[in-house]
Amino acid sequence: MTEKQCTGEPPEQPLDFIEIEPGAMIERAELFYQDIRRRRTVRDFSNRPVPREIIEKAVLAAGTAPSGANRQPWQFVVVSDPAMKQKIRLAAEERERDFYLKSAPKEWLDALKPMGTNAEKPFLENAPYLIAIFIKMTDVGRDGAKQRTYYPSRSVGIATGMLITALHTAGLATLTYTPSPMAFLNEILGRPKHEHPFLVLVTGYPAEAAQVPSIDKRSLDEIATFLDSAEEENAGS
Ligand SMILES: Cc1cc2nc3c(=O)[nH]c(=O)nc-3n(C[C@H](O)[C@H](O)[C@H](O)COP(=O)(O)O)c2cc1C
Repeated sequence: MTEKQCTGEPPEQPLDFIEIEPGAMIERAELFYQDIRRRRTVRDFSNRPVPREIIEKAVLAAGTAPSGANRQPWQFVVVSDPAMKQKIRLAAEERERDFYLKSAPKEWLDALKPMGTNAEKPFLENAPYLIAIFIKMTDVGRDGAKQRTYYPSRSVGIATGMLITALHTAGLATLTYTPSPMAFLNEILGRPKHEHPFLVLVTGYPAEAAQVPSIDKRSLDEIATFLDSAEEENAGS
């Protein structure tokens, strides 16, 4: 037993931090940006198989995300079974028809026009993997006791971003798919009520010659505000 454990303080371990020289840091930041800016939402997938190990590693990477009080309030349900994918597609398209034909406000439909989306969701069957992500609003600890989760939506959002990045880095395309309402996923995938469906991450290879909408991303000036010290500002001028 370490001294900390004897005194009742939480156990600690040395941080596994790798110091990188500033020039190399800038190069790595640039390389990462150049790679991640090529990520696009793909809606036309190939049915080409993908080794499951890639999905497992990407999910493990997502599972390293920070989370409120380290409660890790996520559950990833990885679906490759064709019958299950078909069930999800049929249920999703039923809801999508209702959305596109009846319930969607005009403003929302107008915003979706550039994406060219409609109620047909063939990617739910074509793509080799659907990763349904659930938010655990409460959880069961390793000791079997029910416990709260903290900031579960924010935590799962961060983990999902890491999952998208991991899959892109491994060489796969993704689509963040959010049918509305999504409760049918609990039923089809046999998840308990305290797990709320967050989104379905569709992943695989893009179809050959897949097209994506022409859109742009905002510039640094538009999305960020830097509050530098007066000294730094003067040094730059
Ligand atoms: C929370 C969220 C929900 C989304 N839901 C859908 C969806 O249900 N269907 C879809 O085709 N795209 C969906 N998208 C993808 C967005 O339309 C896409 O990210 C956006 O148009 C920007 O394009 P890009 O991802 O290629 O940069 C969603 C994205 C996010 C972040």
